[in-house]
Amino acid sequence: MKDSYGRNINYLRISVTDRCNLRCIYCMPEEGIKSLSHDDILRFEDTLKIVKAATTLGINKIRYTGGEPLVMKNIDKLIYETSKLPGIDDISITTNGVLLSDMAEDLKKAGLNRVNISLDTLDSDKYKRITRIGSLDKVMVSIDKCLTLGIKPVKINTVLMRGINDTEFVDFLNFIREVPVEIRFIELMPIGEGIKMYEKSKLSFMELLELHPELTQIKTPKSSTAELYKLEGAKGKIGFISPVSCKFCLDCNKIRLTSTGTIKPCLHSKEEINLREYLNNEEMLTASIKSAIFNKPAEHHLQEESASRSIKGMSQIGG
Ligand code: 5AD
Ligand code: SF4
Repeated sequence: MKDSYGRNINYLRISVTDRCNLRCIYCMPEEGIKSLSHDDILRFEDTLKIVKAATTLGINKIRYTGGEPLVMKNIDKLIYETSKLPGIDDISITTNGVLLSDMAEDLKKAGLNRVNISLDTLDSDKYKRITRIGSLDKVMVSIDKCLTLGIKPVKINTVLMRGINDTEFVDFLNFIREVPVEIRFIELMPIGEGIKMYEKSKLSFMELLELHPELTQIKTPKSSTAELYKLEGAKGKIGFISPVSCKFCLDCNKIRLTSTGTIKPCLHSKEEINLREYLNNEEMLTASIKSAIFNKPAEHHLQEESASRSIKGMSQIGG
C-alpha cells in the first residue's frame, strides 16, 4: 500500500533476534548488549501472523535479519512457512555468514531466494579486529557455498571506514574480478556504537570514485538503494549505498519489525508501534500495520543532527 507521501511500501525487514555471534566494532560493544529474554522475543508463530497480515496490505518482499538471524532456531522453518504465504514473492536474509555454509542448502530448499553477507575486510587479522570474534575463513566458505548452490544474487555488505578498511578498496575490486558477487559499500551510520566512531571514520564515496575512473556507472533498478558500478572484465559488481550523504528516503519502500514485536516505520526514527497486544486479533493487527505504513516519516535527519533518533541499535533492528 502507499504511505501518506505516495511511496509504495512492499518490503518488510524482520529482526528475528537481537543476539549475535559477533561483536562488530560499529555495532555492538565488546561485552555485548543485554540480550532479551525468550519471552520478550516474538515467537515464530507470531512473526508469521504479522507477515500474513502485512501481505494483505501489499507486502511481498521479506528479509530476515538480526542480530544474526542464523543463531535463531528454526529459521529454515520460518522461511519455509513464509514462502508458503500467498503474496510473498521474495525472501532474503542478511547474515554475517559465519554459520551459513552448513545451513545454506537447507535454507535454499526452504525457499530462501537471496542472501546479503556482511564482510568488511578480506584480511583475517583485520576481520578479527573488526568483529572481535569471527573467523574470515568461515565467511569465505559460505560465500563459495552460496555461489555453488546458485543462490542469486549473492551480495556482500561492506561498511567502509576511514582508517580501518578504506585502504582495502582495491582489494575488494580485485575480489570481484574473479568472484561473481555484488559488493555493496555502505556508509557508516551514526547509530548504536557507530555514533562513537562516526566523525573519525566516516567516508564519502565521491573521493573513491574520483580515484577510480575504471569504475563505470550502470543502470540501477528503481528498487535498489545502491548506485551500481561495473569494472571491465570483472565477474562481480560494485554498489555504493549512501544513507547519510545521499539519502534515499524519497524512494524508501520498507518498514521494519523488531524481534520484540514493534514496527519501526523508519530506521532512524524513535517511533515504534507495538503489535504484541494485537497478535490474537487479525483485524486490529492489520489495522495497526496499515497505520504504521501510512504514517511512515518523510525522511531521516542524520545530516542535520549527526546521530540517529532511533532508540534501538542496528543489532536490534537489523540491516
Ligand atoms: N552503519 C552502517 N552499517 C551498519 N551495520 C550495522 N551497524 C551499522 C552502522 N552503524 C550493518 C552491518 C550489516 C548490517 C546488519 O548492518 O554491517 O551489514
Ligand atoms: Fe552482529 Fe551484524 Fe552487528 Fe556484526 S554488524 S555485531 S554481525 S549484528
